[in-house]
Amino acid sequence: MLVVGIESSCDETAVALVKDGKEVVSSLVSSQIDIHKRFGGVVPEVAARAHLEALPSLWDEAMAGYKVSDLDGIAVTQGPGLIGALLVGVSFAKGLHQSSGVPLIPVNHVHAHLHGAFLGLEKEVQFPCLALVVSGGHTNLYRMDHPLDFQLLAVSIDDACGESFDKVARLLKLGYPGGPVIEKQARLGHGQKIPMPKMMHGSGRFEFSYSGLKTHMMRLVHHSKESWEVPDLCDAFQEEALGQIVRMVENVLKQHSDLKTFVIAGGVAANRRFRDMLEPLNVDVVAPKLEYCSDNAAMIAALGSEELKQSTKLDSSSDLEPFARYPYENYWQ
Ligand code: KG4
Ligand code: ZN
Repeated sequence: MLVVGIESSCDETAVALVKDGKEVVSSLVSSQIDIHKRFGGVVPEVAARAHLEALPSLWDEAMAGYKVSDLDGIAVTQGPGLIGALLVGVSFAKGLHQSSGVPLIPVNHVHAHLHGAFLGLEKEVQFPCLALVVSGGHTNLYRMDHPLDFQLLAVSIDDACGESFDKVARLLKLGYPGGPVIEKQARLGHGQKIPMPKMMHGSGRFEFSYSGLKTHMMRLVHHSKESWEVPDLCDAFQEEALGQIVRMVENVLKQHSDLKTFVIAGGVAANRRFRDMLEPLNVDVVAPKLEYCSDNAAMIAALGSEELKQSTKLDSSSDLEPFARYPYENYWQ
C-alpha cells in the first residue's frame, strides 16, 4: 500500500510517501521559520502564500520515481490549523484526486502526530495505550483502545504547552520557536532556587494549565527583587511545564491500570529532559524519531494508510473542506 501525505496546516509545508503505513519512502519538509521569525510568530496570510510556493517542487521531489497512478491514497491534513494554509494543501490534494481517481483521505493533524510515533518502529505498539500530543497548539492526553480510537482524558484549559515555551522564550528574548532554545538554556541552569507554582496540583481535575505559569515567569522577570539568570529561569520553567504533565500521567496510570504503553508526540516530545522525566514511570514510552516530532507529512501518510486499511474516512467527493479548530466535543469519553 503506497500513500502520499500532504501537510500545510501551519508553518511547515511537507510531502511524504509511505509504504504499508510504516516505511517512509520519502519525507520532505520545507520550514517557514525564517520567514516568520522576525514577527515572533506565524503570520497566517504569509504562511498560505509560502505553502503555495513550496508545494509543487516538494511534490515533485517526494514523488521522484513514482506516478500518481502508483498511489493507493492521497492523505491530506484537513485540520486543525490556519484555514488559508490548510486550503493550499486540501486544494492541491483535491486536484490530484479529481484528475486521477485515487482516493482522497482527510486526516486530523493532531491524531496524525501520534501515528508519527509509530513510523519505523520495530515492535508493534500494544493497545490500549495512553497517548499525548504536546505541540504548539495542543496538549491533549488520550486513551487509545486501537489505532483509530482517540478518547480524550485531559486537555489544557488555556495555552498549549509548546505555546508556553514560545511565549516564555519571547519574554526572555530568546527568539522563536522557544522550545529548543529553552531546553538548551535549561541544561546550563539551576532553577531549584527560583520560587515556582505547581500548576493544577491537587486540583483533582484532569486539566493542564499554562497561562498562569507564563504570568508567573513574567513577574519573575519584571517584578522580582532578585535578578534571576536566564538559564536558571529556563530550567525552573521547563521543570514545571513538563512536570505538570508527568504528575498527570502518573495519576492517569493509577486509574487506568490496563495502560502499559505511553505514546508521546508533537514538537515538545523532542525535549530530552521530558523523556528523562518519564523514565521512572512504570510504563513503556514510545516516542517518535526526532524528525517526526515536529510537523511532517510522513505522519499524515501514516494515519491516512491506517484509515485506508480500515476504510473509515475516505472522501471520494470533491467538497472536502478544511477545519480550523480541533473538534474536542467529538472525542470526550
Ligand atoms: O508539533 P509542532 O511542530 O507544531 C504544532 O503542531 O504545533 O510543535 C511546535 C512546538 C513549538 O511550540 C515549539 O516551541 C515546541 O513544539 N518545541 C519544543 C521543543 N522543540 C519544539 N518544546 C520543548 N522542547 C523542545 N525541544
Ligand atoms: Zn503539529
